[in-house]
Amino acid sequence: MVVGMSRILCIGLAYLALHVFRVDAAAPPDSQCRVLPGDSLWPHIDAWKQLNTTVGGRLITTIPLGHVCHDPTYNETACAALEAGWSLPQMQWPTPEGFTAGYQQEASCNPYTPRESPCLQGNYVYYAINVSSAEDAAVGVKFAQENNIRLVIKNTGHDYLGKSTGKGALSVWTHHLKNIEFLDYTSAAWTGQAVKLAAGVQGFEANNAAAERGLTIVGGECLTVGIVGGFSQGGGHSLLSSRYGLGADQALEWEVVTAGGAVVTATPTENSDLYWALSGGGAGTYGVVISLTVKAYPDTVMAGATGGFSSQTLSADVYYGAIEVWHTVLPALVDAGAHVTWIIQRAFFTLYEISIPRGTEAELRELVKPWTDWLTEKQVPYQLNFTELPTYHTHIEKYLGPPPYGYDAVSSIVEGGVMLNRSTVAAHSKDIVAHIRNITTTTDFFFPAYAFNVSKSPSSPNAAIPAWRDMLIYLESQQFWNFTIPYETMAQQADILTNEVMPPLQALSNGAYMNEADFQNPNWKKDYYGSSYEKLKEIKKKYDPNDLFYATTAVGSDAWEMVEDGRLCRT
Ligand SMILES: Cc1cc2nc3c(=O)[nH]c(=O)nc-3n(C[C@H](O)[C@H](O)[C@H](O)COP(=O)(O)OP(=O)(O)OC[C@H]3O[C@@H](n4cnc5c(N)ncnc54)[C@H](O)[C@@H]3O)c2cc1C
Ligand SMILES: *[C@@H]1O[C@H](CO)[C@@H](O)[C@H](O)[C@H]1NC(C)=O
Ligand SMILES: *[C@@H]1O[C@H](CO)[C@@H](O)[C@H](O)[C@H]1NC(C)=O
Ligand SMILES: *[C@@H]1O[C@H](CO)[C@@H](O)[C@H](O)[C@H]1NC(C)=O
Ligand SMILES: *[C@@H]1O[C@H](CO)[C@@H](O)[C@H](O)[C@H]1NC(C)=O
Ligand SMILES: *[C@@H]1O[C@H](CO)[C@@H](O)[C@H](O)[C@H]1NC(C)=O
Ligand SMILES: *[C@@H]1O[C@H](CO)[C@@H](O)[C@H](O)[C@H]1NC(C)=O
Ligand SMILES: *[C@@H]1O[C@H](CO)[C@@H](O)[C@H](O)[C@H]1NC(C)=O
Ligand SMILES: *[C@@H]1O[C@H](CO)[C@@H](O)[C@H](O)[C@H]1NC(C)=O
Repeated sequence: MVVGMSRILCIGLAYLALHVFRVDAAAPPDSQCRVLPGDSLWPHIDAWKQLNTTVGGRLITTIPLGHVCHDPTYNETACAALEAGWSLPQMQWPTPEGFTAGYQQEASCNPYTPRESPCLQGNYVYYAINVSSAEDAAVGVKFAQENNIRLVIKNTGHDYLGKSTGKGALSVWTHHLKNIEFLDYTSAAWTGQAVKLAAGVQGFEANNAAAERGLTIVGGECLTVGIVGGFSQGGGHSLLSSRYGLGADQALEWEVVTAGGAVVTATPTENSDLYWALSGGGAGTYGVVISLTVKAYPDTVMAGATGGFSSQTLSADVYYGAIEVWHTVLPALVDAGAHVTWIIQRAFFTLYEISIPRGTEAELRELVKPWTDWLTEKQVPYQLNFTELPTYHTHIEKYLGPPPYGYDAVSSIVEGGVMLNRSTVAAHSKDIVAHIRNITTTTDFFFPAYAFNVSKSPSSPNAAIPAWRDMLIYLESQQFWNFTIPYETMAQQADILTNEVMPPLQALSNGAYMNEADFQNPNWKKDYYGSSYEKLKEIKKKYDPNDLFYATTAVGSDAWEMVEDGRLCRT
């Protein structure tokens, strides 16, 4: 994609100069399309000032983080720090506009392009409201609606598909909503401990607050992902998922600002259609969630294991054969309550974690024995270390890395994934591994994968795609976004993923996890929402009749298309 830009004036002050680069080529206004800065219908500066007053001075004119790497605001020290951590979420989440998705960044303002090339606003949002209440969000939603402006909801900016950004958009930025409140909860769905989390609470914050009370909550493996945003609305899998279900299955009560600016509560009995849609039917499209109340569980002992082996001394037949045998131990493992993560690369098989809440080390050793016996028999030099730790929190510190954020998680990647159910894995393990072998030996793609069992129906029906319920393996295919090579080369890799890497796997699959999936998948409706798509679209119509909320591959996004200048127009 080519980024359009028109420099108009040159004013000496750096800030103003930056502001000038923010203005994009003006296109004729068209009510079928969102307005962009520079259009005659773009609100006058006074309207923005008025908006700012209404939200108590919380409106931010965004300047892409990467500007310190470009003239006229180049700063060597600041740029070097940015370059070192650009792919990590912690670089991007503190800012109102930052996000990690390399494709959508379009290299418009990163630390890797020449200092002399200007920092362009590109797909970074134009303004953001640093939301402190439901009222702030409602004001933003109404302003966008009245002025035909693209609206974006951003929490952490982790989304791999680039759903938390948008060209010329006003962002409702939820990051600073950090309230955490523990409750004794009673409803038809749940009697027990619960916690009300404000929209900006991240996994590590919820985990730590829960730990202080001897509780646990279902949160992601990346400890910095938000709980309330993409995770719980998109599905959400956790080390605790084989015991307690998906993130979406934990939802008791959503507090939501709708497109009309009303604040509503959605529970299994009140606005139950909205409850159903928000719980697994995808984020960023039905409303702005202000808080979510989720189930909390007593802390528990955890059995764990980690290890792996190198391909170096092995024939390819043995190396990939070991992966076929690995598949055979997964059903018993997940049925015993395990969540498992592994990564298959050309050079290594890394067993990142096995986690069994309420499990024992002896039980876990027994469950993997058919596989370790095979490795021993074939003289594969492997490592496998076991633990039995007293709490979830000591377990995640060992397996997910040091507090507060855990291991550095490179989050700018080319990403795709498929759900594989257990009959498919049993019948097609050979084909699946042959494909992995072909791709890992001929390309830079590698295959992270998870196994868990969320077959148990949630306490209240929700929109999480039914394919979750008989999934055995979630098989991802990834490549790091390499910022030092030309953008177009990486964009080609994204196309190779869509056109060559994914189709043979999609042919064996009946769904995908919308948060860990390919934004270019032509079958996204069926793959990410299954049979629920039309029903979800009707619910969206009810709460957002004018299609204000938009995100790539979100329900209702088919009402819009991106035209040449990156503008959203109705289809
Ligand atoms: C390193 C890494 C590891 C991960 N590990 C896991 C894992 O273990 N398990 C798992 O399930 N997922 C995992 N994910 C995927 C993660 O769940 C998604 O990236 C998710 O979309 C992040 O949500 P967010 O709200 O933090 O981020 P954002 O990018 O800010 O938002 C994601 C989407 O949610 C929308 N949204 C955010 N807040 C709200 C709100 N308040 N109301 C309405 N819409 C909202 C946004 O508009 C956007 O569409 C991982 C991601 C990364 C980068
Ligand atoms: C909004 O008001 C605050 C406080 O007066 C100010 O600091 C900020 O720059 C204003 N934002 C915009 C976009 O003008
Ligand atoms: C450059 O960045 C560093 C680190 O962020 C900061 O301390 C310094 O003040 C900046 N220098 C200028 C001239 O802005
Ligand atoms: C956003 O608001 C919070 C308080 O709610 C404040 O601490 C933070 O500095 C603000 N951030 C920006 C970038 O304005
Ligand atoms: C397993 O334990 C051994 C001995 O303590 C250690 O050297 C090795 O690094 C560990 N391996 C893993 C993958 O944890
Ligand atoms: C290997 O994968 C490529 C796509 O990357 C495909 O064209 C080729 O047919 C595959 N080969 C085999 C033997 O499957
Ligand atoms: C998942 O585990 C449950 C037992 O907890 C079991 O009944 C079910 O068959 C398992 N497998 C699948 C595919 O759901
Ligand atoms: C990016 O590509 C360059 C050139 O091919 C290579 O040297 C570098 O190791 C790559 N970086 C990553 C993170 O893959
Ligand atoms: C498993 O997946 C295959 C392939 O998508 C599908 O045909 C089959 O019906 C699924 N089986 C179950 C039990 O869901």
